[in-house]
Amino acid sequence: VGRVDDVQELGKAQPAAVPERYLRDGGDRPSPPPPVGVHSEKVPVVDMSKLAVGGGHGDGGHELAKLASACEEWGFFQVVNHGVEEELMARMEALAMEFFMLPLEEKERYPMAPGTVQGYGHAFVFSADQKLDWCNMLGLGLEPPSIRVPELWPANPPLFSETLELYSAEIGKLCRRLLALVAASLGLPLAAFDAIFSAAVQAVRMNYYPPCPWPDLVLGLSPHSDGSALTVLHQHADSAAGLQVLKGGAWFPVLPLPGALVVNIGDTLEVLTNGKYQSVEHRAVTSEERERLSLVTFFAPGYDVQIGPLPEFVGAARPCRYRSFNHGEYNRHYLSRRLQGKMALNFAL
Ligand code: SIN
Ligand code: FE2
Repeated sequence: VGRVDDVQELGKAQPAAVPERYLRDGGDRPSPPPPVGVHSEKVPVVDMSKLAVGGGHGDGGHELAKLASACEEWGFFQVVNHGVEEELMARMEALAMEFFMLPLEEKERYPMAPGTVQGYGHAFVFSADQKLDWCNMLGLGLEPPSIRVPELWPANPPLFSETLELYSAEIGKLCRRLLALVAASLGLPLAAFDAIFSAAVQAVRMNYYPPCPWPDLVLGLSPHSDGSALTVLHQHADSAAGLQVLKGGAWFPVLPLPGALVVNIGDTLEVLTNGKYQSVEHRAVTSEERERLSLVTFFAPGYDVQIGPLPEFVGAARPCRYRSFNHGEYNRHYLSRRLQGKMALNFAL
């Protein structure tokens, strides 16, 4: 696949023109921002304090209905009052930023091997003519313990690993609460998904997007849907906007909101709900002036779990749209190809 440059180092070298491997073809380039007022539609914001699990729905089900329509129409929403301490989020963010600011030699002590997603480097690169993303990544598996690769956990900054444990434990709890709420939004018992996620897989990917001199010509992250069931994404409120979601053929920004977390539906939940809730294509664009950091948690069933449309979602009016398969097999398939829209999900057809 050739040598993949580190984009922070590439930026420092100040090339006169955009390197060919990053230059996107016309239709794949970030669209110019729409005139003010055009993006009146916004990714929904769900207030979790109005969705107390088990405590009834104090607001008469209004917020739950909002969650249902967010899942069905966007596949993306932001959550506020999610229960993850802001101070912990800020600490994790600061440590992640410190890691990305280390000298390259230090970060390369944790190299991401080709075809894998753990360590520091570039995931999903499989050919020399594939376009590259303007992003540096650090990926780490958290749960179950068998997916951990301790050699790839940064020893520097010193509090990084222990903070990641605390942070991921909180995000994991949030994912379980979200899955219960998603079940409720589908009219199912809160525990409907519990067995499928009893030994869930949880992994984190930290994305650092340095400022880019050609934000109109390159992408920070190629369009893709997530292979997870749910993804929880944390972006700093003051960072550049970068995440965009495809809806009705147009790209909508997910604007940073103080204290909020972004949640999206992944391929696995699409299969489980027989397409009632669908994973949605998203991408990241870069900014000329500002860097951006996102901390992304993927939450999925255990690798030995068999996945297929749940009987509740299959009937005469809703024929079964996906085959059943082993989730570990899907994971291997997902990791064996470049990010390309929703192509990976063809595996389930
Ligand atoms: C992702 O889709 O994994 C990350 C997108 C982002 O950085 O906002
Ligand atoms: Fe994603």
